[in-house]
Amino acid sequence: MKALILVGGYGTRLRPLTLSKPKPLVEFANKPMILHQIEALQAVGVNEVILAINYQPQVMQSFLEEFEMRQGIKITCSQETEPLGTAGPLALAKEKLIEESGEPFFVFNSDIICEYPLREMIEFHKAHGGEASILVTKVDEPSKYGVVVLDEETGKVKKFVEKPASFVGNKINAGIYLLNTSVLDRIQPRPMSIEREVFPSIAEDGRLYTMVLTGFWMDIGQPKDYLIGLRLYLDHLRRNSSSELAVGPNIIGNVLIDDSVKIGEGCMIGPDVAIGPGCVIESGVRLSLCTLMKGVRVKSSAHVSGSIIGWHSTIGQSAHVSSMAVLGEDVHVSDTMFLNGVVVLPHKEIASHFVKPEIIM
Ligand code: GDD
Ligand code: MG
Repeated sequence: MKALILVGGYGTRLRPLTLSKPKPLVEFANKPMILHQIEALQAVGVNEVILAINYQPQVMQSFLEEFEMRQGIKITCSQETEPLGTAGPLALAKEKLIEESGEPFFVFNSDIICEYPLREMIEFHKAHGGEASILVTKVDEPSKYGVVVLDEETGKVKKFVEKPASFVGNKINAGIYLLNTSVLDRIQPRPMSIEREVFPSIAEDGRLYTMVLTGFWMDIGQPKDYLIGLRLYLDHLRRNSSSELAVGPNIIGNVLIDDSVKIGEGCMIGPDVAIGPGCVIESGVRLSLCTLMKGVRVKSSAHVSGSIIGWHSTIGQSAHVSSMAVLGEDVHVSDTMFLNGVVVLPHKEIASHFVKPEIIM
């Protein structure tokens, strides 16, 4: 079985992290985002993943070659010369997607994280006999998503409306599809939107079905949602695989710590923290709702909360970093500084206080 992941563009909403690597390779809970998806696909028998990509293909390719060998799954890139939207890339990769057996294939948006009920989805798809299945979830604020209106009994979609201007319902497209190869006949290799052009027409033909996702779901393509997603993901680990979470007198709630991390005396870590490989946490540090990427050093008595700290950055002694601060790679915050809600581009030294959210170039 095959799958295509819409890797897409520049990941601008996740800058400055995406200035250092393509969004799918940015770690989420200590693992590149895309690996969460590839592993879930592999677990249901997908043996080839096609990455539909229009940005930094070399970086992706070299990372994935290593992963391919380790994991035993074929990963290829299908590269666009212009952005083809969310449908065009499927037409571009048509030859790769069609199998002799005529099996359906998965399509994923690359920036979503959830429990991936893919086996159930395959069963669901077989049972309804339609052309396409999409996973949906309920949200409070549906306007920034694709909204589906469905027949609650059968799951058949009556209407699909992308980014509705007025309320049509609160069940939204979760960004995971299982499509028959016949869907490819509805798409051309030009800029095309699966949400605006393809799904509405399949729905009109009465051949689009939805399966409602149970469990957590989040689009983690922007910092605030990334941290909400982290909380939901760690909570999911607590319920399903709690041995992966850290334990100890200094740990509060759900915390993920790479084995190589060094932690000093008298720290308070958690809840909802992910600490990547090679990080050094000196004594008396307080961390809550945050991600520290690989190689970060947090000096003694510093506080980090509600923030993401990029690779190989340093937080000075007794410094405070909080309120949705996002520090790029290799940022060095001097001792005792206050950083509130700032976005800091890579390779910066910060030696003054920033009390209001702003971008530090
Ligand atoms: N290859 C390629 N080329 N990929 C693209 C392109 C493109 O031109 N444009 C977007 N993508 C990828 C993005 O990288 C992402 O993985 C996916 O397509 C969806 O694009 P987003 O820009 O993240 O869309 P969205 O978040 O506003 O809305 C989509 O996701 C929602 C769920 O998070 C839609 O599918 C909504 O219907 C859905 O509810
Ligand atoms: Mg998105």
